[in-house]
This record gives sequence, C-alpha cells and structure tokens, in this order.
Amino acid sequence: MQHSPPHLEDRNPQFSPRSRFCDVEDADRFAKAIASAQPIELEIGSGKGLFLTQAAQSHPDRFFIGLELATKYARDAQSKLVRLGVTNACFIACDAVAVMQHDVRENSLAAVHVYFPDPWWKSRHKKRRVLSDETILNIQRTLVASGQLHFWTDVLDYYEEAVARILELTSFKGPFYVPEPAATHTMDYRTHFERRTRLNGLPVYRARFEKP
Ligand SMILES: C[S@@+](CC[C@H](N)C(=O)[O-])C[C@H]1O[C@@H](n2cnc3c(N)ncnc32)[C@H](O)[C@@H]1O
Repeated sequence: MQHSPPHLEDRNPQFSPRSRFCDVEDADRFAKAIASAQPIELEIGSGKGLFLTQAAQSHPDRFFIGLELATKYARDAQSKLVRLGVTNACFIACDAVAVMQHDVRENSLAAVHVYFPDPWWKSRHKKRRVLSDETILNIQRTLVASGQLHFWTDVLDYYEEAVARILELTSFKGPFYVPEPAATHTMDYRTHFERRTRLNGLPVYRARFEKP
C-alpha cells in the first residue's frame, strides 16, 4: 500500500536539526521515562499510539515510550493516556533517529518496536528511512541481552532489505516467524496501519529478532 511519508520539515515545522525533541516538555518527559526502573519498551514512529496504549494496559510491570515525529499524533496519544489513567507509558514528539543516537544508553531497552515505518519509496529518499544502518546499530547497542526487535511492514521490498541489513550488521538471532493473530473485535490490531492493511486484504510482513 502507498503511504504518504511525512517530510521532516513539512510535518513538524518547529523541528530543527539542533533540537531533536519538539520542545522542552518532550525532552523532560523523555528523560524521566528513560530513567524508569521498569523494563523499557520503545516504539519508533508510534503514530496514533494504538500499540503502546494497549501494551501499557496489558503489561503494567513495564514502561513504554513512543517516539513520534508528528507532533499532533504524539500530543493526542499522550492526552489519551492521561484520560485513561495509564501511567506506565508516554509519547514524545521528537526525531526518533536522533533520539536513538544521542539519548538512549547502551543495554537499556527490553524491546524496540518498529511498525509500518514510512517506506520512502524513491531511491533518493531512502536515507530518510528510520530503519537506516545507523538506527539498526543503535537498536543493537541499546537493547539488553535477550532484548527483542519487532519489525512489521506492508512493503515487501522494505521488509526484505531491512531484514537482510539487520542480519549483515548485527549478531541478532532471527528473523523469527510471527503468526498473524486473529482479530476478534474492530480495534484488535497491533497498530492503526496493521488494521488498515488487513482490512484492505493486504499482507503484513512480520519479523522478530533477539539480541544474543
Ligand atoms: C506509516 S506511519 C505508522 C504508524 C504506526 N506505527 C502504525 O503502524 O500505525 C509511520 C509513522 O512514523 C513516523 N515517523 C517517520 N519518521 C520518523 C522519525 N524520524 N521519528 C519518529 N517518527 C517518525 C511518522 O510521523 C508516522 O506517524
């Protein structure tokens, strides 16, 4: 399915390369979250926040951080968490690529989730992909031993390229097969993009990796 990937500056005009967080509140909220004593799971490109909101409610013993470039998505998802009284998760408006590089210390994440990242179809735009070599190496650096990387997409080329690159660059075990769960109600999908893809009858490519 064709996505309309955001252009960093178009989607978030207040973003500048010097400020990887949208504003000081995001930077503060991130600093508190990443210091959590609970095992931390981090999602890159959390969109409207369906996965993280449901995962935080199902796993109160863990802390979930969503990194999202589109400020409105991050703000709306954060407001929903507050309305629901969910305290073991937060959404941060930021550039996840830069935050993974500069703000996440090694061996600190129990899991990293990347669901339906913008494909950036044209070759000249591929460098904008969040699953770049830089991010793959940062995921390896920041996961704890036995930490998990979950990567799902509806774009077969992206899936194949990313899986091959992960295997070239890291010592991760995998990709492990992830069966498609049955959807038992209208929002019973991991993310909004998974929902949209499956309701359109299109395939989803899923991989799980584990850091040795
Ligand atoms: C296709 S959407 C998928 C959203 C969600 N994961 C889902 O499956 O419903 C990709 C998301 O990644 C976000 N994104 C793209 N580049 C990003 C970056 N550098 N940092 C954080 N988020 C990014 C976009 O704003 C968008 O919300």
